[in-house]
Amino acid sequence: MLYCIPMSNTAQSPNPDTRIPIPESRYPNPDTRIPMIITIDGPAGAGKSTVARALAERLGFRFLDTGAMYRAVALAGIRQNVDWDRPEELVELTGKFDIRVIGPKVFLNGEEVTEAIRTSEVTVATRYAADNPQVREQLVALQRAAAGSDDIVTEGRDQGTVAFPNAQCKFFLTADPKERARRRLRDLQSQGESVTLEEVLSAQECRDREDSARQFGPLVPAADAIEVCTDGMTFDEVVDRLEMIAD
Ligand code: DC
Repeated sequence: MLYCIPMSNTAQSPNPDTRIPIPESRYPNPDTRIPMIITIDGPAGAGKSTVARALAERLGFRFLDTGAMYRAVALAGIRQNVDWDRPEELVELTGKFDIRVIGPKVFLNGEEVTEAIRTSEVTVATRYAADNPQVREQLVALQRAAAGSDDIVTEGRDQGTVAFPNAQCKFFLTADPKERARRRLRDLQSQGESVTLEEVLSAQECRDREDSARQFGPLVPAADAIEVCTDGMTFDEVVDRLEMIAD
């Protein structure tokens, strides 16, 4: 709590009882304050990206989409024809490529790949990046560097557990698997891909299993994460709920 000392009470040792308390500013001193980190983890299709982006916008924070980084590594691997059975090739590639996530845009060696990383081919190959502990290590370092000293909302699978274990506010977003698959189907169809709900659901179950069983950075809620199930909630209701808790 901060105190405002009225002019009449500016004696050397003011009686603390006469001080008028004023509400503490969220940002008391720009030089000394600790940046606020909000992590949003959860399974594919739970709406993390859109919710995290909207929450960041409302709070004036930066937004970091860490799944995009794993996807960018996978895209680099596809383009460089890496041998997926030789994980060291992907590790080397990750070190060589310049991966940047700037707001909603993703760049690979300066080329914008925002759309290119969202295809089904990349989604399937991303597990080679996500399952590789040394790639994870490099990307977690990149995520921390990207956060720097800014206030951020960061989303992924391991943000509250591995990348930012000291984050002040952690969410774990979930939703019914069928609902998640329907959202993914809509996204894929809008990109011109022709897939069925059954195909999306089965690929999603597979990805959930892989994400949860991963030895490093698995999909698990942090012990201090707040779980929010978005079933039956509108997009705005979800963002409102998270904003209210984060405040
Ligand atoms: O959130 P997304 O669907 O764009 O993520 C793509 C893949 O990357 C997903 O299968 C899990 C993985 N991932 C991860 O392992 N750790 C993260 N922090 C973010 C994503």
